Amino acid sequence: METRFTPPRRLLLGPGPSDAHPRVLAAMSLPLIGHLDPAFLALMDDVKRMLRAVFRTRNELTFAVSGTGSAGMEACLVNLLEEGDEAVVMVNGEFGRRMTDIVERCRARAVAYEIPWGRAVEPEDVEKAIAQARSPKLVALVHAETSTGACSPIAELAPIVARSGALFVVDTVTSLGGCPVEADGWGIDACYSGTQKCLSCPPGLSPVTFGTRALEAVRRRRTKVQSWYLDLTMIEKYWGAERVYHHTAPISMNYALAEALRLVEEEGLEARFERHRQNHLALGAGLEALGFRFVVEPVRRLWMLNSVYLPALGEGHDEARLRRQLLDEFSIEVGGGLGAFKGKIWRIGLMGESSQRVNVIRLLEALEVMLPQAGVSVRPGAAVAAAEACV
Ligand SMILES: Cc1ncc(COP(=O)(O)O)c(C=O)c1O
Repeated sequence: METRFTPPRRLLLGPGPSDAHPRVLAAMSLPLIGHLDPAFLALMDDVKRMLRAVFRTRNELTFAVSGTGSAGMEACLVNLLEEGDEAVVMVNGEFGRRMTDIVERCRARAVAYEIPWGRAVEPEDVEKAIAQARSPKLVALVHAETSTGACSPIAELAPIVARSGALFVVDTVTSLGGCPVEADGWGIDACYSGTQKCLSCPPGLSPVTFGTRALEAVRRRRTKVQSWYLDLTMIEKYWGAERVYHHTAPISMNYALAEALRLVEEEGLEARFERHRQNHLALGAGLEALGFRFVVEPVRRLWMLNSVYLPALGEGHDEARLRRQLLDEFSIEVGGGLGAFKGKIWRIGLMGESSQRVNVIRLLEALEVMLPQAGVSVRPGAAVAAAEACV
């Protein structure tokens, strides 16, 4: 009897993971070597160098935390915060909310500044949030809010944070590799990401970069970092020159990340960003021709995550059923809404390898077949034509 798991072949157009390149998947099946083998240490150096390039930073402490994006989020916050500290968190979606939760678990005081879901964080929001705090040690926010599709203008927000003297912590889980992230240029002190979105690597590692000011804050701590596993003062001795064992590195995941980063390097960051932008525009034109409406205003829309309200469906139809049909009959995954958006929107990802013209057309063609069955009147071919016209 066949007992091996054979996953169905899907087209991943959800909020992550995205499709991984065959070279990345092949890298994961290479033979294992030890986590202190000189060949593995050389691979780690390559990963660090290539991560510096995607984060656009010169930060020495730039590496991949073992664990998914949430581990990166937690690594940044638990290392920077101690009991009694104060942190401002801009909350315009699910992931800002989670940062607040972690701040509180660090026994720090969270000043959570709530912004309606679907809106980006704007300069006046950051001004007001900082004004509500006493003396914040850091200001944290999400660049690309995957739960809503909003992209916050970090370049405009950073100077406001800098004037307050607080450290600036930014979540780039969904943005890194898909649109510009300028860790040094924007003055970000600590930044984390994930592998399974625009880097198109399986989930399992969290690229992180720490600048000088952030590192000084870690070194000035009065107390030990709450988490042993994520304690940067120990992890940096493994990823840095000393090569002291801390935990067994996820060897195959690092092979995969190195290969994914090589693919990014070969394509070039600017070309990659432009690809994401073009495919987003084409998809948007097609979706609007079908009666979908974007949640976010045009200038703040993410290129890699399209959050849209569905057209009014006929009696007895709902978004979850339609998504299930898309998966079962067309093998295409898209995401539903989270939190306040549950049952109301779709989140359609065009991340990394998944961001391809042919995928945009494949999805639109499927929708042109499915929507009339769900009681939506659609002009045959209109969506694909709108996307094709958008070059
Ligand atoms: C913006 C953002 N931050 C953090 C996370 C958490 O990452 P993970 O699910 O890889 O732990 C996600 C995951 O979707 C995300 O989109």
